[in-house]
Amino acid sequence: MKNFLLFITIVSLSFSLQAAEDWGRNGHRATGEIAEQHLSRKAKKAISELLDGQSLALVSTYGDEIKSDPEYREYGPYHYVNFPFDSTYEEHPKSEEGDLIVGIRNAIATLKSETATKDEKVFQLKMLVHFLGDLHQPLHIGLADDKGGNDFQVRWFGDGTNLHTVWDTKMIEDYNMSYSELAANTKQLSEEELQAIQQGDVLDWMYESRELCKDIYANTEIGEKLWYPYMYRYMDTLRFQLQKGGIRLAVVLNEIFD
Ligand code: ADE
Ligand code: ZN
Ligand code: ZN
Repeated sequence: MKNFLLFITIVSLSFSLQAAEDWGRNGHRATGEIAEQHLSRKAKKAISELLDGQSLALVSTYGDEIKSDPEYREYGPYHYVNFPFDSTYEEHPKSEEGDLIVGIRNAIATLKSETATKDEKVFQLKMLVHFLGDLHQPLHIGLADDKGGNDFQVRWFGDGTNLHTVWDTKMIEDYNMSYSELAANTKQLSEEELQAIQQGDVLDWMYESRELCKDIYANTEIGEKLWYPYMYRYMDTLRFQLQKGGIRLAVVLNEIFD
């Protein structure tokens, strides 16, 4: 009986750990697929060699898959960055364990390095694809107090969950499009609009997500019953975040492999 209870505890614990899964698989995959549409010929070739022809969509979820492996524990804090709404990334004391910005910078440095091995580059390329997705999930530019909304309880179509999970997975799941459908049905952009999205750097893009995070907090209450009106309010915004993540991932990769 004791062993059985222990088994049940371990199984339910591992399910609850798995639940903390950024953007959800299809969100990350859509971002990877959209990036493929914007890669330069040179970047495409270099990436195909590193990934043995696997797609960016396929490798985009790797960053979450390794989370439960103790060998990769140090990468856990690299998926998000928290600082108070009335402060800035630059002003606020940095996490000693690193954060999303550090994770992205490390990955870029390894991919540009002349001494890193192929295995190291493959690893960091997969992480970079994942992290550019996380950078566009507004709750990943969050508040430490409620762990980026993980401790912000809400109801989603009647079921108990938290604000972070609504943004990671619930909205995308209920929208019920595959990642390729999400990638094929992005917003039509003029050349000017595309260029505006491609402008700036990782910190600019982070602050853009931060503004969205503030908007979400201003429009969501603890315990709130979220359903269709919330989808209606935010789904286009969410889809645009996936699109911008993909476009900007391609900007970063094109620059690395130029
Ligand atoms: N844990 C603590 N803060 C977090 C955040 N902003 N996103 C995801 N997980 C977190
Ligand atoms: Zn998340
Ligand atoms: Zn992540």
